[in-house]
Amino acid sequence: MKITIVGTGYVGLVSGTCFAELGHNVLCVDNDERKIKTLKSGKLPIYEPGLQEMVDRNVAAGRLHFTPSIEEGTDFAEVIFIAVGTPPGYRGQANLSYVEQVGRKVAEHMTGYRLLIEKSTVPVNTAEQLKRTVAKYSRQDVAFDVASNPEFLREGSAIEDAMKPDRIVVGIESERAAKLLREVYEPLTKKGAELLEMNIASAELTKHASNSFLAMKISYINAVSRVCELAGADVEQVAHGMGLDSRIGPRFLNAGVGYGGSCFPKDVDAFVHLSDQLGYDFQLLKEVQRVNQSQREHVMQKIQHELWVIQDKTVAVFGLAFKPGTDDIREAPSLYFIPQLLEAKARLKLWDPIAQEKFSEQIPNMDYYQDPIACAKDADLLLILTEWPEVKNMDLAALKKAMRCPVIIDGRNIFTPGEMRKQGFTYHCVGRP
Ligand SMILES: NC(=O)c1ccc[n+]([C@@H]2O[C@H](COP(=O)([O-])OP(=O)(O)OC[C@H]3O[C@@H](n4cnc5c(N)ncnc54)[C@H](O)[C@@H]3O)[C@@H](O)[C@H]2O)c1
Repeated sequence: MKITIVGTGYVGLVSGTCFAELGHNVLCVDNDERKIKTLKSGKLPIYEPGLQEMVDRNVAAGRLHFTPSIEEGTDFAEVIFIAVGTPPGYRGQANLSYVEQVGRKVAEHMTGYRLLIEKSTVPVNTAEQLKRTVAKYSRQDVAFDVASNPEFLREGSAIEDAMKPDRIVVGIESERAAKLLREVYEPLTKKGAELLEMNIASAELTKHASNSFLAMKISYINAVSRVCELAGADVEQVAHGMGLDSRIGPRFLNAGVGYGGSCFPKDVDAFVHLSDQLGYDFQLLKEVQRVNQSQREHVMQKIQHELWVIQDKTVAVFGLAFKPGTDDIREAPSLYFIPQLLEAKARLKLWDPIAQEKFSEQIPNMDYYQDPIACAKDADLLLILTEWPEVKNMDLAALKKAMRCPVIIDGRNIFTPGEMRKQGFTYHCVGRP
């Protein structure tokens, strides 16, 4: 089956490559010519474990192609996925201008039936607007459908998530669209993947409701961690005790510096905004946002308290991306702490195995290290914002020897407090005595 994907970023490139791996013939479109040039030269514009090999294999097999031309993409296939960005707008609402642009361009160029599928995360009822746009800009006699197929992959394990999804959600309103989407996913449903068909608004809402729920779980455990700190309890033990309850489950119960990344912050914002617009004041999610912000401020206070005067102190920071396994720095906690430390005139030394280049595009002229111990050398304080194995498994004796003052603020709770004390560190973490 031929498939076009418009938007070749973290979602578009992974989805397109996985569709090719499943045997489809895929054309990935992106209007960022530099990205397409990079891909055509055999390199990837993003980091995702296992992706390079899969791209190479499918390009070599002639099933995966790249183009900057939306005209070519529109001609190529009946089925067109939209996987462009939907970044936060000026008041928290999703910026849908990229989605609209794709709808318009496809409409202008299509000469036969097309199915436009929202894979980007969009607010409920976006499909209605997309339909109006396509109808307005297309020739009157060309039939089309719009569908929703929200994406649930996680950066860092995106290939596994796309190839073995917990569920595939599709929102459709015509049998023609349903048939095409069933065909797209047949290689997965044949192996037992569950395809849920529902109306378009429900599919759109499922994505925002899911991400907001996960963000809520994180804010919940972070709020619990604050009570733990006051009560002398250990949030890790509390979370473990909670998580074994099958109604609760252990995942997303890690207390820390709060959620970040390209999805949760913007999707919670967009869901709050959309609910407001529809007439529902989603106070619960507003509190989720507040707790998340307050958790970062709380960790910043721990840094402030330890250093007293931040000016001229050397602070090592481990972890620039929002989580391990990705180079994505969008809404990463590092972008909250590093500017504040810079403003307070700390000397910063930074380590991240793959996100340094992306970070330097955002904040230039920083001091990067390839090795965590070298990064921590002569530091007055180490701030941990990642669970990369290089940090979790590091030689603590060497770390202590390297630092000027063995003080650690662990925003990810990766070490055991008692063990760290034994090793001679002043160790502050989140929600543990
Ligand atoms: N990143 C994730 O983990 C993830 C997971 C699930 C859903 N999503 C959602 O998927 C969507 C895409 O996210 P992403 O992380 O892949 O974003 P991204 O920024 O990595 O990729 C978007 C791509 O779209 C391209 N683009 C923008 N306008 C275009 C146009 N008119 N024509 C062609 N290409 C265009 C951009 O150049 C960019 O390469 C967002 O709505 C996001 O919320 C992301």
